[in-house]
Amino acid sequence: MSEEIKIDKSLSKEEKYKQLLPQIRSLVEGERNLTTNLAQICAALKYGMDGFFWIGFYFVEGDELVLGPFQGPVACSRIKIPNGVCGACAKRGEAIIVPDVDKFPGHIACSSLSRSEIVVPIFKEERVIGVLDVDSDEYNKFDEVDRTSLEEIASLVSSIS
Ligand code: SME
Repeated sequence: MSEEIKIDKSLSKEEKYKQLLPQIRSLVEGERNLTTNLAQICAALKYGMDGFFWIGFYFVEGDELVLGPFQGPVACSRIKIPNGVCGACAKRGEAIIVPDVDKFPGHIACSSLSRSEIVVPIFKEERVIGVLDVDSDEYNKFDEVDRTSLEEIASLVSSIS
């Protein structure tokens, strides 16, 4: 059986997410291993969307975020909450869009190539259990379209966690 994700590259970002989200849902529906599903979501987003340089999950462990499945270069294994964009997102419990990472006080540069970033929280029973982090090597890559779609993925992750 083909597990290929099919995205029409000529579509707008919004339309690409619209094509991708149902495919991600059906990909994880048939599998109950969380690590497998998180790894698949990262790959689907990295290769389905354009300009996603790094994508991955961090999960809350005590007062820290610990790296989960990701796609892209090696990243920081642990981030203290509320440090960096990820820690700030976990602390605030809301999405953070950073158009230029050098302008975000305390941004943690896991890769010097990262230029912009979006982090969305993952909730379980109203508590933040983790974050979904996407970095781009282009400035200004992320907007409300990304926020809405990545929040849908965060809620899917919550439902399978
Ligand atoms: N830039 C993030 C750290 C994680 S990496 O981007 C993968 C931050 O400031 O929290």
